[in-house]
Amino acid sequence: MKNREALHQISYGMYIITTVDENKRKYGCVMNTLTQVTTKEIKICFHLNKENETTKQILKTKKIAISILSTETDPNIISEFGFQSSKEKDKFRNISTLESKGLPVLLDASSYLIGEIIETVDMGSHISFFAKVIESNLLKEKEPMTYEYYRNVLKGKTSKKAPTYLEEQEEEGWYVCDVCGYRVKGKPKEDFICPICGRDASHFQASKK
Ligand SMILES: Cc1cc2nc3c(=O)[nH]c(=O)nc-3n(C[C@H](O)[C@H](O)[C@H](O)COP(=O)(O)O)c2cc1C
Repeated sequence: MKNREALHQISYGMYIITTVDENKRKYGCVMNTLTQVTTKEIKICFHLNKENETTKQILKTKKIAISILSTETDPNIISEFGFQSSKEKDKFRNISTLESKGLPVLLDASSYLIGEIIETVDMGSHISFFAKVIESNLLKEKEPMTYEYYRNVLKGKTSKKAPTYLEEQEEEGWYVCDVCGYRVKGKPKEDFICPICGRDASHFQASKK
């Protein structure tokens, strides 16, 4: 029998991938599936769900900025960019950014890459993108955030659209934030604020098996 838990042992980083359309409207989402492919002319690849608005826009613009998150990045950024769609809202309205090659980079990141898409491969639910890196820069000397750190230290959940999403069995007595998926043992008190997304206790629902 296949034990899907083995997939949790694959290591990843934590990134916000962004793009901008011809009307200067910005799009972006959380992504954990990024790898470097070549060194001499640096090429990278990453994998995005077809339903993400950011994916649809990147297919058109062919331009991307990747903000590499650090362990000190505000976790609210992950809830803002990882659980909501750019289609309905401007995710950038309260976020400080700098512009590089016309693309938005999050100032709270530790470093960033700017790239141009050179190839895509249709993988069914997801599209694999290959891009050449045309600029890379360090913003802060901070430790990059790993996916493991996000899951084990910040107790963050994964969106169903992430390639790494696994169905999870919940235990009784646990309450789950309906915005970002943060879990607490026992019903949170009225003044409780979610440490991941900052929502109040009314957003916590009893988790079901
Ligand atoms: C921890 C985490 C990792 C994620 N990784 C990916 C990923 O690698 N690829 C992907 O397509 N979506 C990933 N997502 C999901 C998108 O960020 C999410 O669907 C987002 O709401 C899409 O926003 P958009 O519609 O504005 O593009 C991830 C979400 C989280 C919380």
